[in-house]
This record gives sequence, structure tokens and C-alpha cells, in this order.
Amino acid sequence: MRILGIETSCDETAAAVVEDGEKILSTVVASQLETHGKYGGVVPELASREHLRAIVPVVRLALEEAGAGFAELAAVAVTEGPGLVGSLLVGITYAKSLCFAHRLPLIGVNHIEGHIHAVVMEARQTGQPVEFPALALVVSGGHTHLFEVLEGFRYGLLGKTRDDAAGEAFDKVAKLLGFSYPGGPVVDQLAPHGNPKAVPFTLARMKGNPLDFSFSGLKTAVLRWYEQRNMEEEAERRRALLRRVRQPSLEQWLEVTPQATLDLLASFQATVIEELLRRAAASAEQIGARSLIVSGGVACNTGLRRAARTAELPYPVHFPTPGLATDNAAMIAAAAFPKYQKGEIADWSLRARANLTLA
Ligand code: KG4
Ligand code: ZN
Repeated sequence: MRILGIETSCDETAAAVVEDGEKILSTVVASQLETHGKYGGVVPELASREHLRAIVPVVRLALEEAGAGFAELAAVAVTEGPGLVGSLLVGITYAKSLCFAHRLPLIGVNHIEGHIHAVVMEARQTGQPVEFPALALVVSGGHTHLFEVLEGFRYGLLGKTRDDAAGEAFDKVAKLLGFSYPGGPVVDQLAPHGNPKAVPFTLARMKGNPLDFSFSGLKTAVLRWYEQRNMEEEAERRRALLRRVRQPSLEQWLEVTPQATLDLLASFQATVIEELLRRAAASAEQIGARSLIVSGGVACNTGLRRAARTAELPYPVHFPTPGLATDNAAMIAAAAFPKYQKGEIADWSLRARANLTLA
């Protein structure tokens, strides 16, 4: 049972063919980093245009690499939301036209559910399937959510960010300090060179739901630190480096980053990790989780992975391989498989839903 997945919710045009919800036959991701990098964030209008440009060749390549034609497909799955409406629209319209032309069923997938399925799929492949109930921490540039995942893929929302997503905090702090976009990977690379205890950031205290997150206070604390220490000049040195070299190496970044700033980055990252793991562990305990799933771009973070490994949690922790953690279409095809089995087929009224929730 082969499903073609299409994902265009943000700044990645992706297509993949997945067999039986678990075997990835192909996965193609065309990144728009080149386009958005210089703006330090995703520009929605440019994203739609890039998706339009990339969607046909990306789908063609995914089919080619899978050695599959439309005749071998059982269905086409597409991200219906959440995401940028113009970007979603490109994927949805193309998926619909493929289904119409080739008489294939269309399946709409929630992007967040896709992130969860990336891990479920991989865990099944490696012979250590996720046990339910599971606690899923979805952390990316757009989301920081805690879900209870029950057998049969039913979801309950336990907590979410009230302001910035964790990945967004990485991106904004990196941008402020003159590093490249997206910020997460750079901070991740530099943090081990600093002292994570050097800057005593306070953890967010939540009124109401204690499982909610907030990262705006931390972001503001970094801004204050930056202003009080007149860091404009050193940030400008990094921006100058970025103008010369598109992707500076670790050594090049270290040359223009004083120890105090490395300490700041390490402390910032350690605080984000502590916020994430503390609430994930509390939620897991609350629902009696038998496993913890971490997914989304921030799940690539080596500090987060290490902290989760060494926390000695009483259940297995599943992280996806980096290619499946960030946006991709294999996760969309995988999430569509149980829907296909249950006959959850969409009709032509399927539309882009920018604020679609999972639970
Ligand atoms: O899942 P994703 O590709 O797209 C969204 O759905 O948002 O996640 C992208 C986010 C960006 O904010 C990026 O900075 C962050 O994931 N990210 C990381 C790392 N790699 C990507 N954050 C921390 N450490 C990383 N290694
Ligand atoms: Zn995502």
C-alpha cells in the first residue's frame, strides 16, 4: 500500500512515497533556506512562490526515486494545516489535481500529527515500536505542544506555548545576536563551547495550566543582556561574516564570538531544554505514559537529546533521525496510512486550514 505524501505548510516543499505506513521508498525535501535566510525568517509570499516553482519537480523526483508510477499508488496525502495559508494551498491544489487526474483517493493530514508519525514510523522500523499511551512533545519553529497519544491515534492536548514556539525562540535569539537563520542549528553547535550555568535565567512560572510553555520572557532576558553589554558591535562582526560566507563553519563563528556570548548561548539553550523536559516529564507522569516521543525541528538539538538520555526517565524516549525531525513528507504519508485503512478520505472541499488544531 503506497501513499504519496505532499507537504508545503511552511518553507519546505516536500514529497515522499511510503509503503504500509512505515517503509520510506523515497523522501525529497526542497528547502527554501536560500530565499528566506537573508530575511532572518520565512517570508510568506516568497514561500508560496517557491512552492509553486518546486512542487512539480519535487513530486516527480519522489515518484522516480520510489520507482513508483501513479498506478502503484493507493492514495495521495497532503498537509491541510496548520501552516501558512498560501503555502498550504499550493500543496493541496496540486494533490487534488493529481487525485482528480489519476482517480486516487485524497487524504488530508494535520502537520502536527505528521511530526508524531515520523517517530512512530521510525520506531516501528527499528523494531522498538512506540508503546501507548505515549506523551508527544512536538517542538518546532511553529509549535511547542504536549499531547497524550492513545492507541488508535487519538490525541489529547496537555499543554502548549502561550507565546513563542521553542524553535522560534532559538531563531529570534540567533537573529538578535547576528547569527544565521535558522538559529537552532547554530546555537546547538556553539552551546557546547560555553558554560550553561554562566547566565542564571529564570524558568517561566505559569499561571493556570502548569504544563503550558512560555519563551517570550527568556527571549526578553537575552535582549536585556544584549543591550546592557552593548553587544551591537560584536553582532555586527557576525553579520559581516555572514555577508562574506553563506554558511560559516564552527571555527569561523568561534572567531567572531567571545566567550561571554558562548556562555550566553549555552545558558539560553540549557534553559529551553530544562523548560521542555520538565514539562514533558510532568505530563508523562500525569498520563502514565509508556513512552515519550520528541519530534519537530528542535528535536534535532543535541543538547536536548543528551539531556533526555541522561534524565533516566522510567520509559523509553524516541527521537527521530534529523531528516525526519524537520519538515518532510514521509511523515505525512505515514500519518495518512491509518486514515486510509479507516476510510477517512477527503473530498474536493478539503481546504487549507492555517490554524488547524490536533486536539
Ligand atoms: O519542524 P521544522 O523544520 O519546521 C516547523 O514546523 O517549524 O522546525 C524548524 C525549527 C526552526 O526554528 C529551527 O531553528 C529549529 O527547528 N531547529 C533546531 C535545531 N535544528 C532545527 N533548534 C534547536 N537545535 C537544533 N539542532
Ligand atoms: Zn513542522
